Amino acid sequence: MPNLDKILTVAEMKEKARRSVPKMFFEYADSGSYTEGTYRANESDFNKISLRQKVAVNLEGRNLKTSMLGKTITMPVAIAPAATGGMQIADGEIKAAKAAEAFGIPFTLSTMSVCSIEDVAENTSAPFWFQLYVMRDRGFIERLIDRAKAAKCSALVLTMDLQILGQRHKDIHNGLSTPPKFTPYSIFQMMQHPIWCARMLGTKRHTFRNIVGHVDGNHDLASLSAWTSSQFDPTLNWADVAWVKKRFGGPVIVKGVLDREDAIAAVENGADAVIVSNHGGRQLDGAPSTIRVLPEIIDAIGKRTEVYLDSGIRSGQDVIKALAYGAKGTFIGRPMLYGLGAGGQAGVARVLEIIRKELDTTMALCGERDIVNVGLHNIYSNDIPPRRAPLAP
Ligand SMILES: Cc1cc2nc3c(=O)[nH]c(=O)nc-3n(C[C@H](O)[C@H](O)[C@H](O)COP(=O)(O)O)c2cc1C
Repeated sequence: MPNLDKILTVAEMKEKARRSVPKMFFEYADSGSYTEGTYRANESDFNKISLRQKVAVNLEGRNLKTSMLGKTITMPVAIAPAATGGMQIADGEIKAAKAAEAFGIPFTLSTMSVCSIEDVAENTSAPFWFQLYVMRDRGFIERLIDRAKAAKCSALVLTMDLQILGQRHKDIHNGLSTPPKFTPYSIFQMMQHPIWCARMLGTKRHTFRNIVGHVDGNHDLASLSAWTSSQFDPTLNWADVAWVKKRFGGPVIVKGVLDREDAIAAVENGADAVIVSNHGGRQLDGAPSTIRVLPEIIDAIGKRTEVYLDSGIRSGQDVIKALAYGAKGTFIGRPMLYGLGAGGQAGVARVLEIIRKELDTTMALCGERDIVNVGLHNIYSNDIPPRRAPLAP
């Protein structure tokens, strides 16, 4: 494994991942839909917000511990669900889950992961969260929820913003597929990364293991991609939140909310928490950054439920800004994937350590000793222009 101590930022981890992972899988992570405008805005809007410096405050005994869904965590950062973590490095999701467990933060496993629910459960001891895509085959979804329950997943993250796929041009140009298709171009990309290849040859986990072997009549890998992309259910609606919740019997976090009215609907239909997310700029290109809409969503539901944010978090400074606007916690997607690609479990641990240190120093220089006290008083909250609510249809 490389010397990760020399990597000081998430941006440096990204460059290390770029050198370590075949192009098609690195670019699968480092891409947004269409013009990638929303993908860029997620990061650049954070940079527009200034933090308020305070001095002459006693900074001893600082605390980053807080809670998400009532469980104590070591800092307000969770791992977001990300498809094909197991293609950034062999057994990627197991490695990321172990790093999160050691750090004391929540890990969320994607429906479209390479390692299955059972794979992760067998290799970890802390309960993790499971992200659910609702598919047309409701029998499969019922079995999937039951498997998450059997694996003692402590929450379901129900993703509402991907019933239709935003197009990512890079994936098409790269001929991306999971499991990898062996075309001359994809073999060429993989051969340039012999360590990656050797590790992949050492694992049996190469495909969507939550799906393969669990769907009637779909045992053949060639038909898997076609099955999956035809399966995202376009009829998904708010009533399904209650259906999912009843089947699971535990907390359901609704992910993919970017609109005030949707936030209210999510809570009224039983969401135990809401993630303000635009899927990391991978779905509606042209949608606002999440940090820009967070204030209006906090205003709408912040007193009734916990609100989390993802999309664009790259540093502890970004975490503080999300918390200042009222988020109870944040999620990281790509930073975790870059950590995996660059160094597996140790890479994810290094990403978490980088963010933790940045968060602690930034909090202190803002004059705060306890993360739970961070609020609007810590930022210049008019740095991002307030969004005027769209007119009713
Ligand atoms: C490569 C990749 C795969 C993703 N797969 C999923 C997924 O399977 N389910 C899901 O709900 N979100 C998925 N997401 C979205 C993330 O959960 C999260 O919303 C997003 O990555 C946050 O933005 P960030 O990458 O800027 O941190 C994925 C994101 C990326 C980058």
